[in-house]
Amino acid sequence: MPFRIIRNDITKVEVDAVVNAANNSLLGGGGVDGAIHRAAGAELLKECRTLGGCETGDAKITKGYKMPCKYIIHTVGPIWQGGKNGEKEQLYSCYEKSLQLAKDYKCESIAFPLISSGVYGYPKDKALEVAVSAITDFLEENEMDITMVVFDKSAVSVSEKLIADVKKYIDDNYAEEHSDYASRRPFEAGLFKRNELSKGKKLSKAMEPECCDALPFDFDTLDESFSQALLRMIDEKGMTDVQVYKKANIDRRLFSKIRSDVNYKPKKQTAVALAIALELDISETQKLLEKAGYTLSNSLKFDVIIKYFIENKKYNIIEINETLFAFDQSLIGV
Ligand code: AR6
Repeated sequence: MPFRIIRNDITKVEVDAVVNAANNSLLGGGGVDGAIHRAAGAELLKECRTLGGCETGDAKITKGYKMPCKYIIHTVGPIWQGGKNGEKEQLYSCYEKSLQLAKDYKCESIAFPLISSGVYGYPKDKALEVAVSAITDFLEENEMDITMVVFDKSAVSVSEKLIADVKKYIDDNYAEEHSDYASRRPFEAGLFKRNELSKGKKLSKAMEPECCDALPFDFDTLDESFSQALLRMIDEKGMTDVQVYKKANIDRRLFSKIRSDVNYKPKKQTAVALAIALELDISETQKLLEKAGYTLSNSLKFDVIIKYFIENKKYNIIEINETLFAFDQSLIGV
């Protein structure tokens, strides 16, 4: 199931369990802890008093009280002391123990703050690395909808070199003067000249949408639906369905829907995530997207960023999503 990063106040997120970045006493404090206690109300402190505190790296669970979640999982992150005192292992353990508790309590969704990265001083980029690695390891074996909630965008600091590379690529390729998305919409929705195509006619030059990149139509597979094309490509790549939906950061149930409904039309973000999971090149990606009525153009920043990753054969969804997040674009998969 998916992993996403959002910018929000964690007390407002609607999930089964919200994780609190607490201290050893579990009796409240500043930062996320203060915000959660304020939002949950005095009853939370009453229950916390019965828990006998919590070791660093461990986690304990309470009810959610006035928060929109069923449970609050209180975990205690390490205080940053330069990184040589086991901070990484303790922080990893916070995520591992919290996820295990959420699983024991049958939670299907959980939201984490960036534990230790505030008052406890853990550098945000390093804290995020640990979070992502613990969450990725958990998702290898388990199904859960996991959200990282960050307060400010700077928390997600993709490497400066990557950002610089993507910026340059956008500068070189992004056709701002063509950003009239509305004029392309009929085509993206699959309505533009599709009737002509389904009658087997080739696209004449005059029929090609002017503002789109040339689309590599494959007339041999013209009648194939998105679902059929996807399943064929999965077989061709020698991958299993589970490998694909996990790598695509897509919910198992959503994948089943696509699999079982031959005419299913996914959102563009889902279709792109599947193309990335299959490690398709640009032309294959365009072919797959076209089946759902989409294309990647140079007129949308989102599309250009995706093209950058495909052209550079960088198929790590988490890295792509961190970059999309840094550029204020919607994430893929989720
Ligand atoms: N929603 C999402 N993220 C937030 C929120 C919020 N409402 N508030 C802060 N953050 P911190 P720690 C971010 O200090 O470092 C408390 O006093 C914040 O920007 O809450 O683990 C406890 O009682 C930062 O990136 O937790 C402990 O004594 C991240 O959440 C101590 O602080 C974590 O910041 C724990 O320190």
